Amino acid sequence: MIEIKNLWKTFGDKSVLKGIDLKIEKGKVFAIIGPSGTGKSTLLRCLNVLERADKGSIVLGDKEIDFTKMSKSDIQTLRMHMAMVFQNSNLYRNKTAVENVIEPLITVRKMNKGEALQIADELLAKVGMSHKKNAYPETLSGGEKQRVGIARAMAVNADVILLDEPTSALDPELVNEVLDVIKDLAKQHTTMLIVTHEMRFAREVADEIVFMENGNIVEQATPDIFFTNPQTERAKSFIQAKVDDIYDTDFDKIIERRYMNSYKWKDLKTLDIDKDIYPMWVADMEFKSSPAIQRQMQERVEAGIFGYETLTPKYFKVISEWLENRHSYKVDASEILFCADTMIGISTYIQAASEVSDEVMLLTPVYGNFFSTITGCGRNVLECPLIEKEGRFTISLELMEEKVSEKTKILLLCNPQNPTGTVWTKDELKDISLFCKKHGMTLISDEVHYEFIFNQAQHTVAASIAEEVGVMAATVISPGKSFNVPMLSGASLIIKDQKMRDKISAIMENLKYPFAHAFVEGVTIAAYTKSVEWLEAVKYYIQENKRIFKEYFETHFPQLKVVNSDSTYVMWVDCSGLNMSDAELEKFWRDDCKLILSHGSEFGTGYSQYRRFNVACSKLKLEEILERILKQMQKNKLI
Ligand SMILES: Cc1ncc(COP(=O)(O)O)c(C=O)c1O
Repeated sequence: MIEIKNLWKTFGDKSVLKGIDLKIEKGKVFAIIGPSGTGKSTLLRCLNVLERADKGSIVLGDKEIDFTKMSKSDIQTLRMHMAMVFQNSNLYRNKTAVENVIEPLITVRKMNKGEALQIADELLAKVGMSHKKNAYPETLSGGEKQRVGIARAMAVNADVILLDEPTSALDPELVNEVLDVIKDLAKQHTTMLIVTHEMRFAREVADEIVFMENGNIVEQATPDIFFTNPQTERAKSFIQAKVDDIYDTDFDKIIERRYMNSYKWKDLKTLDIDKDIYPMWVADMEFKSSPAIQRQMQERVEAGIFGYETLTPKYFKVISEWLENRHSYKVDASEILFCADTMIGISTYIQAASEVSDEVMLLTPVYGNFFSTITGCGRNVLECPLIEKEGRFTISLELMEEKVSEKTKILLLCNPQNPTGTVWTKDELKDISLFCKKHGMTLISDEVHYEFIFNQAQHTVAASIAEEVGVMAATVISPGKSFNVPMLSGASLIIKDQKMRDKISAIMENLKYPFAHAFVEGVTIAAYTKSVEWLEAVKYYIQENKRIFKEYFETHFPQLKVVNSDSTYVMWVDCSGLNMSDAELEKFWRDDCKLILSHGSEFGTGYSQYRRFNVACSKLKLEEILERILKQMQKNKLI
């Protein structure tokens, strides 16, 4: 236990800390929150002696150090007990990642270089940075630098790690990777004092919330108590302001969709149907969309006029910037064709790039509507199964070679793959592209799930690799999945080949495609320019749901195998371990567990024993569903 007693700090005539008392118990995580300028960072800086406190002391075991009378060795002792992670990582610019980490091992812990290197390797592995150990800070992203900074703080082997707004200087899309590392440390019972403005994270990771205002600790409680039942008016209004102002993202809240026109809920509309039945099939989320999108919609509705509309250059510019900034894919705005939805984009491409009776290859299991779209265009589906390797679905070039014929003209890829959650690596994409090249095929890649990438997997636009090897490729994207607006946005079909683009434009012109409905442009721009924080928050929530789902299955019913998924909010589960017939299995899920799931056979031949679960729902609901399954497993004597 470390105890801070009556800590004061004044700058000029302004008291920033006014007598802070705090007991830091070993193995606990303290999240220090509160409005800006209330002394949170100063508190950490005083503990690490980056600022000299004016009054107060700290008790470390049986030693009490008075902040006003510190010797050099007291400062050294304090810094050995408290290691700091800064907002801007503060790495040495002339040292590589590993050199930054060995620095405290050599200077503070007096290790020799060999020993230090070994420990530094272990620490870099812990923060997922082994692959960049020899990189210099300037070549690392903000999130990577922060991870190295955390490894360096761990190297001190301090009793407490102090983290001062570790994500505030990061682009929103890099925040989660750093929060994940901190979460892992928390799980290993690392004692931490974290100044943060990430309320969702604080709630999830902290054992204690320390709410500061105006230089004082106003309230201290467990997250459950603090966030649901704050004791002071100040804490109440702080929490309220955060919820309203960051995002309307109470993803825990259950939204009643039963009586809306939701496709997912359509069979559950009638009043007499069993209220317990829960739909986990169609891939949309049980969450409201971002506040920016809601606001945009309200403004557009208020205009009250909804005649024919066309899209402006800004629409295409925003999409091309999004692709370049988030997915490193450079696209000229003129290479983007608007289509009303993803499947229309895909079917138009199939019609332009193949003839009736040609084959389109699908790597199965894959999104069910691909099958009907291909046959609807008068083409034939050529199924080629993926193979499962260590719980991950991947391609088999041998099988692809076995299946392909001269009638196979297109490979329709799903990247990342719905339902398996495979995020195709650059190497796999290269193999796929070379395969297409060898057989004179073109590639069309459906990337609508491209924002939901987890576990440090990296999404690569398939066309970027195909184009490198000289294969004609098209990409379909849309904000529909990412921002939960499939009925409000349009999709983009991106093709670099001018001839093919002209051919497709001609088909689209015939179908009156210059028109987009009144919400498309505003919603797309609000999504891509004003909803990134919301997207990161929803991703964070989904990632947690995926973890809970997988761990629960592994712990309670390991005979149901949940595939290792690095993307999407759907989980692909092999139920063959239950040894049931297809009919028995359906009865179990539908009648006993009362769940509507996506049936495996929608995704290809041979998958009737699989089910796809959509976990983009309230965590509370998910936990209830998991318990429900457990009860039914027990009742049916399956475990
Ligand atoms: C891979 C994939 N592509 C396309 C779609 C449908 O997208 P849209 O509504 O834009 O047609 C889905 C919907 O689940 C999907 O999973």
